[in-house]
Amino acid sequence: MKDIWQKDKIKDIELKNRIVRSATNEHLGTIDGCITDDYIKVYHDLAKSGVGLIITSHMAIDKNQRADVTHICVNDSRNKEKLKLLTNTVHDYGSKIIAQISYPGHHGSKIEGQVAKTPSETDNTKALSIEEIKECVRSYVKTIELLQRVGFDGVQLHMAHGYLLSEFLDPFYNKRTDNYGGTANNRYRIIHEILTEATNSIKSNFAIIAKIDTISKNEDRDFINQQIEVCKWLEMDGIDAIEISGNNFKKLNQPTPYFLENALKIRNKVNVPIILVGGFRNVNQMNNALEKGIDFISMSRPFIADENFVQKLKNDEESICVNCNECFEIFKTQHKRCALRKDIIHQLEINFP
Ligand SMILES: Cc1cc2nc3c(=O)[nH]c(=O)nc-3n(C[C@H](O)[C@H](O)[C@H](O)COP(=O)(O)O)c2cc1C
Ligand code: SF4
Repeated sequence: MKDIWQKDKIKDIELKNRIVRSATNEHLGTIDGCITDDYIKVYHDLAKSGVGLIITSHMAIDKNQRADVTHICVNDSRNKEKLKLLTNTVHDYGSKIIAQISYPGHHGSKIEGQVAKTPSETDNTKALSIEEIKECVRSYVKTIELLQRVGFDGVQLHMAHGYLLSEFLDPFYNKRTDNYGGTANNRYRIIHEILTEATNSIKSNFAIIAKIDTISKNEDRDFINQQIEVCKWLEMDGIDAIEISGNNFKKLNQPTPYFLENALKIRNKVNVPIILVGGFRNVNQMNNALEKGIDFISMSRPFIADENFVQKLKNDEESICVNCNECFEIFKTQHKRCALRKDIIHQLEINFP
């Protein structure tokens, strides 16, 4: 019988349990993309509480393409020592840490004065040229190499939720007629190029994993079939684990866990470890998904609502999170992370637009 407390591995990386903190943007970077002490503290507390694998907030690979004003930029040399401190802090508690990296796509249009780049032109974004796509691939590879040097256990390509790589995969966003659009294989090409380049320079104790959508922007029913093929290609390209999500993860009152059915379709077609995220709030749900073939259980909001959530699970308690979704906005107005937690207020140096 599988359960969440068992040890397991992703590539050569030993994880002390099957509990994953899914990538969560804490909005705790400075206005110019630097890591703050409050940011490190969040990761300290998660590691101390016993999370097996922590996936960081998504971090930018290009300081000129950020998703919001606090988006931390990995390649900024001012972050190098902080990134080392971050990985050491987490490792001190026996947890592992993977950095999620992103290129914002249309999300980049939220920053005043920044020209957001997307697969195809829209009202407020410009299409990437072929040369810019090649440059983007180089930035991904350079970032992955840097993350390995500063002590991360791996990297997660953010290929979900409308960020650039998911936009390439989703025909709703990708209307290109060149080698990067048209067929599913062409839509996948940029990811293939990143993985082909990156896997040349990584060690066996550094994993490359992906987070993918199984529901597209317009909830097209056939999208899951494309994503099953994408997962097979990811496996062929050497991916070490796949986290399953969906573009509609904020939708209220969905049956939980949100993407189990789609995750099992993928489980049956690939051999890499499957991490499932979305809606898990108690141990029964988690062990049930593990029994069906999922390898790791990933969560975000339960850890925002309660930094000691792992300890609560040990006592068989449910998450206190009420799925109100206020955590997506409340930091802007009240500098709080969770509507239920009046005691956690971060001292941000900025006021959000
Ligand atoms: C405040 C907040 C920030 C998030 N930031 C990210 C992120 O940086 N990258 C990402 O892939 N998902 C992000 N997510 C989505 C979560 O990783 C997760 O997929 C989603 O919340 C569903 O899981 P849950 O039901 O356990 O919260 C964020 C979610 C929240 C609530
Ligand atoms: S703000 Fe709402 S959805 Fe977000 S963690 Fe708190 S209770 Fe959960």
